[in-house]
Amino acid sequence: MNHVLVIHGPNLNLIGIREPEVYGSVKLEEVNKSLTALAFELDLDLRVVQTNHEGEIVETIQNARQWANVIIINPAAYTHTSVAILDAVKAVAVPTIEVHLSNIYAREDFRHRSYVAGAAAGRIMGFGADSYLLALRAAKSLLSK
Ligand code: DQA
Repeated sequence: MNHVLVIHGPNLNLIGIREPEVYGSVKLEEVNKSLTALAFELDLDLRVVQTNHEGEIVETIQNARQWANVIIINPAAYTHTSVAILDAVKAVAVPTIEVHLSNIYAREDFRHRSYVAGAAAGRIMGFGADSYLLALRAAKSLLSK
């Protein structure tokens, strides 16, 4: 069975409450439930991590080298700042899909730069919670090739 790691970055524990006009009204717990159901359907083993700490994201990516076949990551605000997360993704060479709830290019200029994009297999954004489900389908597709 293939193993997929989903990483939710900082402040994503507050979706559903946080700026619902931008991020929607679905709570992270519900996103994770939908992901678990879809993973079962697609015959994928799924592990989900949420952390507000950059170093913990780096360590989670490093550890994924031992077991994950695909990483799906929403680095949230660290998307726009973190060379450390970019380097970790490059270091482990596990295909990585970047996800965002919002379309970062339709927002403030400072959100237009993504460091991790340079190492991503692909990127999905702008579909709210569905961005994660589309990313899981993309992971399945990558693994079938
Ligand atoms: C986000 C977009 C980021 O700019 C922001 O800092 C987030 C969430 C998204 O999913 O749309 O926290 O990654």
